[in-house]
Amino acid sequence: MVNSGCELAVKDLLAAFESEVNAHASYKAFAVKAEEEGLYGAASLFRAAARAEQIHAANHGRVIRQMGGEAKAEIHPVQVKTTLENLKSALSGEQNEIQSLYPGFLKSATSHLDTSAMRTFIWAIEAEKTHARLYSGAIALVESGKADAWTQAELAFYVCTLCGYTAKHREAENCPACNFLWERFEVIR
Ligand SMILES: [Fe+2]
Ligand SMILES: [Fe+2]
Repeated sequence: MVNSGCELAVKDLLAAFESEVNAHASYKAFAVKAEEEGLYGAASLFRAAARAEQIHAANHGRVIRQMGGEAKAEIHPVQVKTTLENLKSALSGEQNEIQSLYPGFLKSATSHLDTSAMRTFIWAIEAEKTHARLYSGAIALVESGKADAWTQAELAFYVCTLCGYTAKHREAENCPACNFLWERFEVIR
């Protein structure tokens, strides 16, 4: 690491990496719980979001290594509650990343013209917005107790393998966040 700007970027990237690695672990555990509750669609959503967070962690990790750092993170124990509570906790985590964590990191990366860090942060923010929308929808449905809700159905989600953008349906020819071909999205059930 050659200058303070670079060290700062690595510090932010490591914090983001840790956040993504832990979100991945939480969502995998939340998916198991949702299956137990018969909320198969919610379980698929957790698995899809978990895959997206893994993609974010890999993207951040690549930039960390490019800057001479080592991508490592502490995994915290996961608190698994009911699926409704897990969805709310997942939503609040996403909102924190969208509103606070990533904008701060992005501002700093932008001020240092650090394009690699900027790109991985922007991609993560855009994907986390899709998670927040999907979690909000799932919360409303689980709270409503509707019998034909997608949260209960066997469902497939699409995850962009480049940026982690997550969708319930095919939305376009290309990823709305990173422009990657939709054919290259991964289908997560
Ligand atoms: Fe997310
Ligand atoms: Fe994408």
